[in-house]
Amino acid sequence: MVMVSEIDLFNLEDPNSIIRKVVGDDELIDISELAQRRVQIPVGYEIKELSIENGESKEISSLVEDEIKKFVNEGYPDNIYTPIYEAILNAYQHGNKRDPDKKVRFAYHLGESHLDILIEDEGTILNSTFVPFILKHRESDVKSKYIDFYKFARKEKPKANNGTGTSFMHAYMDEINYYLGEHGLMVHMVKNKN
Ligand SMILES: Nc1ncnc2c1ncn2[C@@H]1O[C@H](COP(=O)(O)OP(=O)(O)OP(=O)(O)O)[C@@H](O)[C@H]1O
Ligand SMILES: [Mg+2]
Repeated sequence: MVMVSEIDLFNLEDPNSIIRKVVGDDELIDISELAQRRVQIPVGYEIKELSIENGESKEISSLVEDEIKKFVNEGYPDNIYTPIYEAILNAYQHGNKRDPDKKVRFAYHLGESHLDILIEDEGTILNSTFVPFILKHRESDVKSKYIDFYKFARKEKPKANNGTGTSFMHAYMDEINYYLGEHGLMVHMVKNKN
């Protein structure tokens, strides 16, 4: 028999797989309904509440430029900006639905061996396809692969998006976890010091 891994029942990329059937197609998941404890930004983290008006790249870079300089001075690469930018943009666009009255909380802790970054929005609704999409990014062979969310979801791409922000976050960070925060979805990214 010829082995065809694409039709593996657990293939996260196959829209006909068992995984995609279980999570549903374009369902909305409210993470605030999960019996999960809410994570607070830990004591000792520097916290900045970002008010974002239009989400243009210039605006986001000006909001975090001092911190990026600090990270680069500590020996982190310049491209540490990319995953931070993509996570803030996702928080603004998808979490806060571009509502300028909602905040994006940006917090960090510079440790001896690594940098922790937390980015929290004020939204709790996730598209079900985000589930296999994140699991796919956690597969070890995927580190340098860019997976277009809209191809993955078989959805039409909105004009304002490329569907690759999550892949950039995974390409430039060493670990990424997602939590239910006090206000909404919280992304935790870790960068190790080399
Ligand atoms: N903070 C968030 N809250 C809710 N959904 C999110 C969040 N971040 C990402 N998502 C979901 O994950 C999808 C993929 O995100 P990703 O950043 O990879 O692509 P994109 O934001 O659609 O496009 P791009 O970042 O390239 O402009 C989003 O379209 C959205 O459905
Ligand atoms: Mg994005």
